[in-house]
Amino acid sequence: MMMKIALVTGGNRGIGLETVRRLAAEGVQVLMGSRSVERGEAARAELGEAAERVEVVALDMASPASIQAAVNHVRDRYGRLDILVNNAGVMPETGSGVLDAGADLYREAFEVNLFAVIDLTQAALPLLEKSEAGRIVMVSSILASTGLHADPGSPIYGWKHTPAYNASKTALNSYTVHLAAALAGTSIKVNAIHPGWIKTEMGGPQAPTEVAEGVDSTLWAAGLGPEGPSGSFTHKGETLPW
Ligand SMILES: NC(=O)c1ccc[n+]([C@@H]2O[C@H](COP(=O)([O-])OP(=O)(O)OC[C@H]3O[C@@H](n4cnc5c(N)ncnc54)[C@H](OP(=O)(O)O)[C@@H]3O)[C@@H](O)[C@H]2O)c1
Repeated sequence: MMMKIALVTGGNRGIGLETVRRLAAEGVQVLMGSRSVERGEAARAELGEAAERVEVVALDMASPASIQAAVNHVRDRYGRLDILVNNAGVMPETGSGVLDAGADLYREAFEVNLFAVIDLTQAALPLLEKSEAGRIVMVSSILASTGLHADPGSPIYGWKHTPAYNASKTALNSYTVHLAAALAGTSIKVNAIHPGWIKTEMGGPQAPTEVAEGVDSTLWAAGLGPEGPSGSFTHKGETLPW
């Protein structure tokens, strides 16, 4: 079987790094997108044997030129892309909620969590079309769910202090559904997942789940067979409300 080629954004730490490690361990050739090549190489050096199948590629999601250069690199070196994991994300909030959050905060969140994802995904689509079974994974969040935010009985009802982040992930989910509809009838599947509340820099040390478990949903969506869904929003196989 031909070796799969994957690109993971924000692959130098947290959930992204664990995704890189696990895909490479499964025999996938992985491009680790990292805005600092130095930090990416340092992370790669920690991967042991799996590092053989990992290549660090400069990828700053805040720079359209960097995004295009990374896609050009994949095109020139591999000619196709089988798996795109849109993992890089920011949670810019430091304040206490929607009354303090100005539009600049929303711009910051949307820049990386949505606009860059659109730029990268559109640029990568011609390469995904060359794959027998292209898979796009949107690393979203349960905090994207407007349905749960509106429900006083939901587990995230009280989590209203990251409004720009939450809205950016809601928009990412919307993009996922539109993209999946546009790609229906092709071999490409695109799905949004919630990784869980994971112990990383973003999740914080109080998060209940280790990063090893935080990649289960990503790996599931990256490895879907032809019968798998497209346009879904799930956590560990369970559908989440939009
Ligand atoms: N942790 C959780 O509990 C949790 C829950 C739900 C969803 N998520 C989502 O899971 C994804 C990964 O989160 P994480 O917890 O692993 O976060 P993290 O530890 O903070 O890592 C974020 C990653 O994104 C990269 N990144 C940020 N801005 C970037 C940019 N402009 N260009 C390129 N890379 C950029 C970071 O690179 P640098 O090292 O260069 O900063 C880093 O590799 C995010 O999309 C997040 O929203 C996380």
